Amino acid sequence: MKEGMLEFIKSRRSTRKYKPDQVPDEMLNEVIEAGRYAPSGGNNQTAHFLVFRDPEVLKTLAEMAEEEFAGMEVTEGMYKSLANSIQRAKLGGYVFHYNAPVLIAVANRADYSNNIADTSCCLENMMLMANALDLGSCWINQLKWLNENERITAYLRKLGLQEGERIYGAVSIGWPDTADGLPVREPLKRTGNEVTYI
Ligand SMILES: Cc1cc2nc3c(=O)[nH]c(=O)nc-3n(C[C@H](O)[C@H](O)[C@H](O)COP(=O)(O)O)c2cc1C
Repeated sequence: MKEGMLEFIKSRRSTRKYKPDQVPDEMLNEVIEAGRYAPSGGNNQTAHFLVFRDPEVLKTLAEMAEEEFAGMEVTEGMYKSLANSIQRAKLGGYVFHYNAPVLIAVANRADYSNNIADTSCCLENMMLMANALDLGSCWINQLKWLNENERITAYLRKLGLQEGERIYGAVSIGWPDTADGLPVREPLKRTGNEVTYI
């Protein structure tokens, strides 16, 4: 089972430029299945996968997110990526999911203590499966940052987000817009993530 596994894990990289071509259903289902087979605290299995594929819905979501971020202010000590989203939204033309043809948002119960942990396992499984299928992927955190935004939440509710659920992360999926059409797989050097052996 271990043949090539570590190298494969190291080859998963974030893709931030996608071709517009849709992902075939069969591949998308395999990616989602990988997410659904992630472990969960106490085997709760309360993750809820919202699979956005409709270009009109994705466009609306991206425009709404841009408007909401543009109305926010960067504050002292703010998480750098959130500040970046606000600044880019204020400039206009900001598309938080990089125009990927698929965005899978993972929701979970707001009152469940392992919500973020379970979601993270689902997202990593899906990113690894996407890589195995030569698809690009990238963790997308913007919907999590907009969790308390009433306008976005109301729109997501109409699309299937259930009462008591929040989105704790998302992943963009699509064909990488690279010269050879494959994801960049050069491992990113680790300079952090310290290890202490005891
Ligand atoms: C919790 C988390 C949140 C992230 N949020 C975003 C995001 O909103 N947008 C984005 O482009 N990348 C996001 N990323 C991707 C990281 O920037 C990326 O994994 C990191 O720079 C390492 O690069 P690599 O994925 O190519 O190895 C996120 C990753 C994690 C784990």
